[in-house]
Amino acid sequence: MQLEATSIFKTYEKRVPALVDISFHLDQKGIFSLIGENGAGKTTLVRILCTQLLPTSGSAMIDGLDVVLDAKQIRERIAAVPQEARAVPWMTPVQTITAYLMYRGYTHADAVQRAIDTIRKLGMEKIENQKNRKLSGGQKRKVLVATVLASEADIIFLDEPSTGLDYISRKELWGLFTSMKSERSIILTTHYLEEAEELATSIAILNKGKLVGFGSMEDLRKLSKYPYSIKVSSPNFEFDEDTGEAIHLPDGVTQIFTYESNVHKLVNNLISRGLRFSVQEISLNTIFENIIYGGSNR
Ligand SMILES: Nc1ncnc2c1ncn2[C@@H]1O[C@H](COP(=O)(O)OP(=O)(O)OP(=O)(O)O)[C@@H](O)[C@H]1O
Ligand SMILES: [Mg+2]
Repeated sequence: MQLEATSIFKTYEKRVPALVDISFHLDQKGIFSLIGENGAGKTTLVRILCTQLLPTSGSAMIDGLDVVLDAKQIRERIAAVPQEARAVPWMTPVQTITAYLMYRGYTHADAVQRAIDTIRKLGMEKIENQKNRKLSGGQKRKVLVATVLASEADIIFLDEPSTGLDYISRKELWGLFTSMKSERSIILTTHYLEEAEELATSIAILNKGKLVGFGSMEDLRKLSKYPYSIKVSSPNFEFDEDTGEAIHLPDGVTQIFTYESNVHKLVNNLISRGLRFSVQEISLNTIFENIIYGGSNR
């Protein structure tokens, strides 16, 4: 999928702008993740890209099609699960998917067949004929994801599909996303940064309507001053302050942020002193905190 956003602005009812000058270029398959705090503008951007909302100014193109001028053609290629979507309680998963596919233009017989095939492919046959209201929160969410997967759309928008789910249910959803990402492009918004870090090829970070970070994890790490984190199981580990920064965590661990060139020296020092430690590249959580809350690691 190619996605090109050029200077998108959106202001609702003359209030504070929800999106300010958003521009980026993306050319990839797989998962593109949008992250940002509540009210950052994620849903607004998703709704513009999936032709549900007009930008105040600026433009967006998906595979060469304009989201305003070519909305009809784009709608044939996309499927979306909005943030507020809920599975209809009195329908079963098969009925839910069938209804959606008929709405997209399939005959009843084709829609039922596709619904059953998708459910079986996703290993959800045990619940296929139960009422949605009897399913757990995670299963209900899987039904919605299955609905868009059953369609022929090759670009899928999922706005916070995993919010509120427990760890295991989220992991199950991640499995679904991973299984679809070789054939489809997915635009995924999430508040679980480890989800974006694990699944996404590219990530956009929005803050108060502005794009404040964009690219792969590797690109985003470059926005931070220190791309490595070393956790030392000692509350008073001393090191040369010119080579990084240390914070003391409540559990007695010292976390050091440092440069790649300094990791080797620090590790040798830690080994010679017999201290326990672990070395990681900084996580998306750290990058996000640095960008949004202006941590010193910038
Ligand atoms: N229909 C609307 N009318 C007026 N203002 C809106 C509307 N939808 C969103 N906004 C405002 O636009 C801004 C961005 O909202 P948006 O829903 O895009 O954020 P979000 O990043 O999706 O947040 P969340 O993580 O809470 O879902 C917020 O200030 C919000 O109050
Ligand atoms: Mg939202």
